[in-house]
Amino acid sequence: MFKDFELIAGRPVYIQVKDYMKRLIIKGALQGGQKLPSTRELSILLKVSRNSIIAAYTGLEDDGFAYTVQGQGSYVALEANASVNAADSSWSMDWKARMNGHARLAEELDIMKRGIRAAKGTISFTSIAPDESLFDLDNVKRAFMDRMSVEGNVLLNYGYAKGYKPLIDYLRQYMEHKGVDMKGKDILITNGFTEGFDIVLSALSTGNSSVICENPTHHTAIKNLKLHGFDITGIAMERDGIHLGNLEQALSEGSFDCAYLVPSYHNPTGIVMSPEKRQGLMKLMANYKIPVIEDGFNEELRYSGSHVAPLIATAGAGNSVVYLGSFSKVLFPGLRVGWVLADQELIYYLESIKRARSIHTSTLDQSILYQYLYNGNLEKYLKKAKAEYKRKYELTLQCCKDYIPYTTLSGDGGLHLFVTFPEGFNTRVLLTACLAQGVIFTAGDIFFTDGKGQHTLRLGFSRVADEDIRKGIEIIGRTARQLMG
Ligand SMILES: Cc1ncc(COP(=O)(O)O)c(C=O)c1O
Repeated sequence: MFKDFELIAGRPVYIQVKDYMKRLIIKGALQGGQKLPSTRELSILLKVSRNSIIAAYTGLEDDGFAYTVQGQGSYVALEANASVNAADSSWSMDWKARMNGHARLAEELDIMKRGIRAAKGTISFTSIAPDESLFDLDNVKRAFMDRMSVEGNVLLNYGYAKGYKPLIDYLRQYMEHKGVDMKGKDILITNGFTEGFDIVLSALSTGNSSVICENPTHHTAIKNLKLHGFDITGIAMERDGIHLGNLEQALSEGSFDCAYLVPSYHNPTGIVMSPEKRQGLMKLMANYKIPVIEDGFNEELRYSGSHVAPLIATAGAGNSVVYLGSFSKVLFPGLRVGWVLADQELIYYLESIKRARSIHTSTLDQSILYQYLYNGNLEKYLKKAKAEYKRKYELTLQCCKDYIPYTTLSGDGGLHLFVTFPEGFNTRVLLTACLAQGVIFTAGDIFFTDGKGQHTLRLGFSRVADEDIRKGIEIIGRTARQLMG
């Protein structure tokens, strides 16, 4: 005993001794009522100072694992290990067998668990996360220190389900500057777009609800719609957004509870819906009385052309659009802050769902973000990040044009491009062949609502170095030509 004690750097020694002794007690190596070595003995055995042992024994007593008998020494508390590993009450549950339909479907749709395990050094076009080397850490640290010094105690306590008030006020203005009529509307802060979407769907789903959306669309959205039991109708896209003719036909033939749309820098096609199409779309939705869930995740990553107002702005004073915002691409996905902007009556209910679910989004995260925005950093950061992404976007676009035998190529901005090959071409076969040469991308079929799209792929370029963009796309293009024969 005591031979396997190993100190690690940086953690107080007495805590390491206390934890070590606790483990011995829990494992039963030290039994209830047994006398512990004297502090002098143990300090020699563990090669640490006697003071550390004295503090460790005091800690064990505080935690109820030991007691002292005056003049005799320390002993293991009588019942400290009596309730651990009581063999006669241990049994094994078959948790897999107990999983319900929801858990099974969530696992089945969890593509992260089935992703390719790429070797180190692989050129990966699979991510559309921001490039963390661009993050202005000093300004984030300053925002954290600023906010903590103003109201650190409050921030570490429980907050409000609706969100951190200064951030909500900031976002009200932020959305107003996008042309949104904020009268009668309210905001709920969520853990990114994904939680906001999940909360909205929980409020709307009836078990056999139906939704209309672009085809292809955001894979996580498809997953959540399926998990909420939505029947999904996908509408094909044109170069300037959803095909309005096909949409009108579907609306006239079926009945839908809501629409989910990504009008700007759509995932995966990167398409920005034209202003004319937005007008036409909103008229159709008004005619058929379909509420729209608008995903505005990428709006700020515009490299050319003029600002296009979100659908919720196009809707004017109407209350039928539920806008989901996120700072995951524009700033930092690790902070997990997004928001739902919608009619105040809807937000009133969503707030209760949020409270029941997670009480509220981390106030610390919200307040850091708020102070960062308040200090004027978003503008500075976006200027730098957009210049870098624009350069990479143009390089990727040019490389696709130079090397890939595509049928169509789309992407008006954002962090990815979408490639379509001739019908019959299979990008999963291409992926396997490219993986063997150290290059991976996202096969497009996962974004399709109807099991199609085998001839498509998405290229995320934000985290790929320039030389790898060239090299990787050249390999994809050459391999595609070989497969085409
Ligand atoms: C279409 C779309 N919406 C929203 C998001 C952001 O989700 P979240 O805010 O939960 O990180 C993404 C991220 O890739 C996306 O592709």
